[in-house]
Amino acid sequence: MNPSLQGYFQVAQAVWEGLPPVTRFGIQDEHTLKTYLPQLQRWEDPVINGFYDTLFSHPATRAVFREGERAMREQVLRDWYRRTITGPFNLEYFAWQILVGQVHLNRGISKGQVMVMWGWLTEQIWQLSHISLPIDEADQLTMAWMRLANSVKAMAADERLEAYLQSLEQQSGASPRILQSAAVSWLEEQSKGSNRS
Ligand code: HEM
Repeated sequence: MNPSLQGYFQVAQAVWEGLPPVTRFGIQDEHTLKTYLPQLQRWEDPVINGFYDTLFSHPATRAVFREGERAMREQVLRDWYRRTITGPFNLEYFAWQILVGQVHLNRGISKGQVMVMWGWLTEQIWQLSHISLPIDEADQLTMAWMRLANSVKAMAADERLEAYLQSLEQQSGASPRILQSAAVSWLEEQSKGSNRS
């Protein structure tokens, strides 16, 4: 396996193992997505169009895109959505999500912007499922989607901190653990300072 790809797999595995099992996407959730695959497939157009309408309607997110890029971006998101709703939800899928996170980072898109669009996607699944399914089934589908979203968001959050600490280590020679405890002490000092003022 390509060494850098292997790195993504290792990070995905490490992050996954750190998450309490009840919080992460599980076998039952995979079964739920499979059950409602026809609905999820039907929602593809509103999800893809709404996603880019949202990003293009706000100047700060609109500014990220190049002229004439929208059609290509929509097709890529469409492919991502199709793969996401059908699974399989294996290590390869989660490692790919880390890679997708890095592509955004390289393009100057913030972690916050990506996280809120996960939130937006979750709201759409909630709304669409509550319009078209009995309430308990809609809740079950939304919860399965939320655990998927949370697992991917956890990967993105942890991986970037990890990459940041590694690059600091390479540049400064200090170990990530020492840097982390220095950061905690600094934050404690800051909060004491702000409590005093
Ligand atoms: C739920 C959140 C998001 C998902 C699932 C998502 C999905 C994707 C995927 C699958 C790719 C292709 C990555 C690759 O080339 O391997 C991509 C690229 C891209 N996304 Fe997103 N995206 C999200 C949020 C955002 C946001 C918030 C923005 C802009 C503010 C954005 C703008 C872009 C751009 C400009 C690219 C092309 C990057 C490049 O190749 O230069 N995305 N996205």
